[in-house]
Order: sequence, then structure tokens, then C-alpha cells
Amino acid sequence: MRHDERYFGDFGGRYIPEVLRPAFEELEAVWNSAKVDPAFAAELKRLSSSWVGRPTPLHFAQRLSAELGGRRLYLKLEGLAHTGAHKINNALGQALLAKRMGKRRLIAETGAGQHGLATAASAALLGLECEVFMGEIDMARQQPNVFGMRMYGASVTAVKEGTRTLTDAVNAAMKNWTERVSDTHYVLGSALGPHPYPTIVREFQSLIGSELKSQIMDAEGRLPDRIYACVGGGSNSIGTFSAFLGDSVELVGAEAGGRGPAPGDNAARVAGTGRVGIAQSYKSLFLQDDNGSLLATHSVSAGLDYAGLGPQLAHLAATGRVRFEAVLDDDALKAVARCARFEGFMPALESAHAVALALKEAPAMPVDSIIVVTISGRGDKDLFITAPHFDREAWLAFLEAEVTRLRGEAARQDKEAARQDKEAAR
Ligand SMILES: Cc1ncc(COP(=O)(O)O)c(C=O)c1O
Repeated sequence: MRHDERYFGDFGGRYIPEVLRPAFEELEAVWNSAKVDPAFAAELKRLSSSWVGRPTPLHFAQRLSAELGGRRLYLKLEGLAHTGAHKINNALGQALLAKRMGKRRLIAETGAGQHGLATAASAALLGLECEVFMGEIDMARQQPNVFGMRMYGASVTAVKEGTRTLTDAVNAAMKNWTERVSDTHYVLGSALGPHPYPTIVREFQSLIGSELKSQIMDAEGRLPDRIYACVGGGSNSIGTFSAFLGDSVELVGAEAGGRGPAPGDNAARVAGTGRVGIAQSYKSLFLQDDNGSLLATHSVSAGLDYAGLGPQLAHLAATGRVRFEAVLDDDALKAVARCARFEGFMPALESAHAVALALKEAPAMPVDSIIVVTISGRGDKDLFITAPHFDREAWLAFLEAEVTRLRGEAARQDKEAARQDKEAAR
């Protein structure tokens, strides 16, 4: 095993093109100074409170707990953070690092759009330019977030290569960075990529776990027996788990089981067919073919639809500290409905994977168990997936009526503009 701060066991490292070496050295230096600077911590804390809305609540899920025969289920509601997911914790932190480095432009990759939205909002707050790279397929399925990013002043660039999802959005952002490295900071959105990103992202997300720990101690006087979080690249899960790594708390990651175990039908790296390799400038578990090319993946949730896994989680999987399970699309969709009916809110499809797994496994636990699920985001962004799934006819009728209404309105506005032009010309 390596003893090198760039590695987590055998995973991690920094396999970057030469042109990016100075940028990584600069990022590492600014991170090392910022993380021990009380002024940086104070600014991040001030904005996390007044703008992000932290701390996020730990909600006791009373009705679901009753359904689980009295096992006590708590939900850490990251979806109540500004922009609707945990992604803002890291985006704001890295935007402040970019300011400290004197960069005037942020770029980001995004899958579900939550990281793009969070980066665009942080750029607007701090007066920075922003460009977000997003797979064409993800732009179509997460359109509300594309609109949000543009409202915050960001440009959203469609990635049309390869998988046209998150994996290729990461490649596009990295390529753009090599071209604009002098004035640009790449706000990587998950706990992956070359060193020091996995560490920086984990640290900005670790307040999920540290808040949770004090909240559950206040509520129950003891630590939970088991904690669940969904795992795309791994930022909400490592942010949740890192505070508990030294405790006797079982940690479980829910990966995208998609349509099933066939290659291309899921994004399960640990619970599926991930192999050790080097891709996207880091060493970890990837879904890849015999030539090392990343495979196409599938998940109903754009945020879990990614071929790689953060290196620290790959290490925690290899050592057995974190257990991983694959959750099917259909079970995640059912968990959205169950949360909606029983607890009065809709989790993001990503987070619903963790809910589904917890609800499935909890009945086998002792009745006095305490279980926590991190709800990484809220489900508003998924409306164009969940509404046609649960209520297709009503949703179709609504969309058709809206298109007719908007076309009529546009025609009226065009006519009025033409009339005004004519009048002005007289
Ligand atoms: C709501 C939500 N949860 C989870 C994820 C997965 O990312 P990560 O594994 O980095 O938390 C995403 C990614 O877009 C997301 O939007």
C-alpha cells in the first residue's frame, strides 16, 4: 500500500497533462493556505448560513419509522440547501478558492444539473464568469436546471461526444481548462478526479456528516447503527461518511442498478462490474472495456449515471469499511412516491436510491435500530421524469396545452411588435 497523501490506499493519484501541472500546484497551494486560514473559514461559514441555509435539518421520519415497525429512521435533508442539493457546499467553497487565486472564470461539469446550478449561483454571488459543460442527454432530461443555470448568468455548453452524459462532460471541462488555465478555475463537482480534488471536495462536503453527528446525538443520545447515502462520483456519501469512519456505525452506499446487471444498463462500480483502472486523470474503479475505455452507463438519475467512483470510496470498498449495493431504477422511483406520501416531500431520484435501500433492508435490523439516510437533493428538478412516470396522461395534456398557449402568446407578441414598428416608421 502507498503512503502518499495523493492516494487512498492504492487509489487516487494525479495523472494529468503537463499543461495543467502549474494549475494543480496553484490549487494545492491555495487549498493548503485556505484550510488553515480562520478568515476563509469565517467567510465560508457566513455564506453557508446566510445564503445556503445551513445547517440543514435532520428530520425524524415518523410515519416511515412506524411502517418499519418502530425502527427509527432519520433523513438528513440536504435538499433544503439553496439550489436544492448538497452540491452547493462544494461549489461555494471552490468559488471562494477561485477568488483567492484571483481567477475570474469558473467552469464545471454537471450531470443532474445540480452541481452546474450550484456553481452558476456561486459565480453570480461572487461576480465571476461561469461556463457549465453538460451532456446533451442530461440537458434534455434535466431542463429545469439548464434554465436555472442560464438565469444565474452561466452559459451551458452541450457535450455531444461519447456517452453525451456526465462522463464526457468531465472530459469536456478538463479539455476547456487546458485551454483557459490562466484565468479559469475548474470547479470539479464530486469527490473524484486528480489530487487534490477528492480531498478538497470531501472537506467542503464533510459538514454533512459533522452536522448529522451532533444532530443525532442531540436527538437520540447515541450514534446511529447504520447510515445510507447514494453514490455517483461520491461527494454526498463521503461527505456524510467521513465523520463516522472511526465509529462503529455501518456505512452503506447505494449505486445505480439501472435496468439491471447487463453491461450498459447500470452504473454500479462496486456492486456491479467495475474494474481498477486509470481514467479521467485518477486511479479508481471504473466501468470500462478490455481496452480501458469507459463504458456507457444507464441510470434514471442523471447524477448517478457515471462510470467512475471517487478514489477514497474505492479504497473504503476494498477494505470493507463501506458496503455498496445496487438499486434498480424502478425501486428508486417507488421510493420517491413513498417519501412523498409518508413524509410530505419528494427526494431527488439520486437520493431515492438510498431511501429505497434503507426501506428494503431496515426490516431485518433489530427493532431498536437507528438508521439515517442522507437525502442529497430534492425532487423538483426531476419533474420531467417523475410526472410522466406517475401521471402520464395528465402531464401530456398539460404540456400540449402549454405549447399551444405559448405559441399563441408568441404570435400575439410578434404581431404587436410588427404593429409598433410600422407605427414608428410612419
Ligand atoms: C441530488 C444529487 N444527489 C447525488 C448526486 C451524485 O453525486 P455525488 O455522488 O457526488 O454525491 C448528484 C449529482 O448530480 C445529485 O444531483
